[in-house]
Amino acid sequence: MGEGTALRPVLEADLSFLHHLISDPAATGEHQWYGFHDPHLYRRRWDENGLLGDDGGVLIVTAEDDRLGLVSWRKILTTRNAYYWNIGVLLAPEARGRGHGTRAQRLLAEYLFAHTTVNRVEATTEIGNLAEQRAAEKAGFTREGVLRGTGFRDGRWHDGVVYGLLRADLHREV
Ligand SMILES: CC(C)(COP(=O)(O)OP(=O)(O)OC[C@H]1O[C@@H](n2cnc3c(N)ncnc32)[C@H](O)[C@@H]1OP(=O)(O)O)[C@@H](O)C(=O)NCCC(=O)NCCS
Repeated sequence: MGEGTALRPVLEADLSFLHHLISDPAATGEHQWYGFHDPHLYRRRWDENGLLGDDGGVLIVTAEDDRLGLVSWRKILTTRNAYYWNIGVLLAPEARGRGHGTRAQRLLAEYLFAHTTVNRVEATTEIGNLAEQRAAEKAGFTREGVLRGTGFRDGRWHDGVVYGLLRADLHREV
């Protein structure tokens, strides 16, 4: 499961794939459909920094050279001198259920711990998104709690679940 999963930077040729992933309700999955997106959103950010900024970024998830989806991260400031990363993952429908979402989140966390000084990587998801909750757990994240009424989607507020992986957790058996 999740064999050959890898992450790589976004190429210009990936931009329409990314837009389709986040903007087509058939691709987002029910828990990630937040309405249509500005079609130039990724293009603008890619022109600016290749979607690899100091406050966050996007990488393409691949397996055996196939393009499967994206992972992303954004900076969450906690105190005056500290921050952590909140990460996201979105695979194309045909790529799901084969372990790649689990592996991609693990690879992203390892990448962020290797290249930034953060002590914490967090993943949050809607309470009904059981696949993501299971994938986060399999990737080594600890379920930390329920965030009541945090996400607005499809006309109403939904509870969220928060998962965390600390630097010290990296060497725990998963
Ligand atoms: C959520 C997502 C990233 C998970 O990645 P994935 O590659 O499909 O998941 P994996 O194959 O690594 O593992 C999923 C696990 O959840 C389980 N699962 C899937 N659907 C489930 C459901 N409805 N109820 C309970 N468990 C479920 C699978 O059985 C598997 O667990 P197992 O290996 O113990 O059997 C992927 O499905 C996806 O991109 N979904 C759409 C976007 C999304 O929801 N992103 C997360 C937003 S926060």
